[in-house]
Amino acid sequence: MQYSTELVLRWTSLIKQKEDGIDAFWPSQIHSKEWLVRHVPIDVENIVIFGSWYGILADMLKEWNPFYKIICTDIDQNCVDWTSQYHESICTSMDAYTYTIPTSLVINTVTEHVVQEVYDEWFDNIPDKTYFLLQGNNDFNEKDHIRNAHTLEEFNKLNRADNISYTGELEYEGPWNMKENKPTYYKRFMTVGIKNDREDKSQGHNTD
Ligand SMILES: C[S@@+](CC[C@H](N)C(=O)[O-])C[C@H]1O[C@@H](n2cnc3c(N)ncnc32)[C@H](O)[C@@H]1O
Repeated sequence: MQYSTELVLRWTSLIKQKEDGIDAFWPSQIHSKEWLVRHVPIDVENIVIFGSWYGILADMLKEWNPFYKIICTDIDQNCVDWTSQYHESICTSMDAYTYTIPTSLVINTVTEHVVQEVYDEWFDNIPDKTYFLLQGNNDFNEKDHIRNAHTLEEFNKLNRADNISYTGELEYEGPWNMKENKPTYYKRFMTVGIKNDREDKSQGHNTD
């Protein structure tokens, strides 16, 4: 993907202003979000991102398609203070979000950061016939990761993904293994589906 000068300057400003801003720019973070952007269903307009963090994904989506209408949501006010400069933003835990406008796609790339009860409440609240796009990973070593999956199959089960139109995995390099002096590799999982639309979308799984 290509990014505008304005966006590059926004991102460098984030890195300068926020102590942990650089964490949003590890190669695996950027690659996984570019992978995501390319799998957004074509008939999508209104998008809600849950756990939007510093808004890098929202920024990328807007560059990809300026007609997307995006709402960023995160539980952390510090993140929302940043994203609200550029996108409509709401500070909330994902399970407490209230849908006030028709939404065609919900994105959750923080599935590994929430307990099952929070995830279930979030998933139950998604209006029927809304696309969902989920990401997670098999990095059990990161302290903030509390709900990982070992395999893509387990990921889909854990996250109640049904009516799937795309599911796949992407290998990425994690932190250096200091003990054994070698790189670590993990898998990121991604699934796109539609909530409670069994008749229309149950065919045609793509597992590339
Ligand atoms: C480390 S960041 C993002 C990691 C993720 N792999 C990604 O690239 O999107 C995790 C984000 O999830 C947010 N978060 C954690 N629990 C949440 C919840 N219950 N509702 C909404 N956001 C949450 C955090 O505030 C943080 O901004």
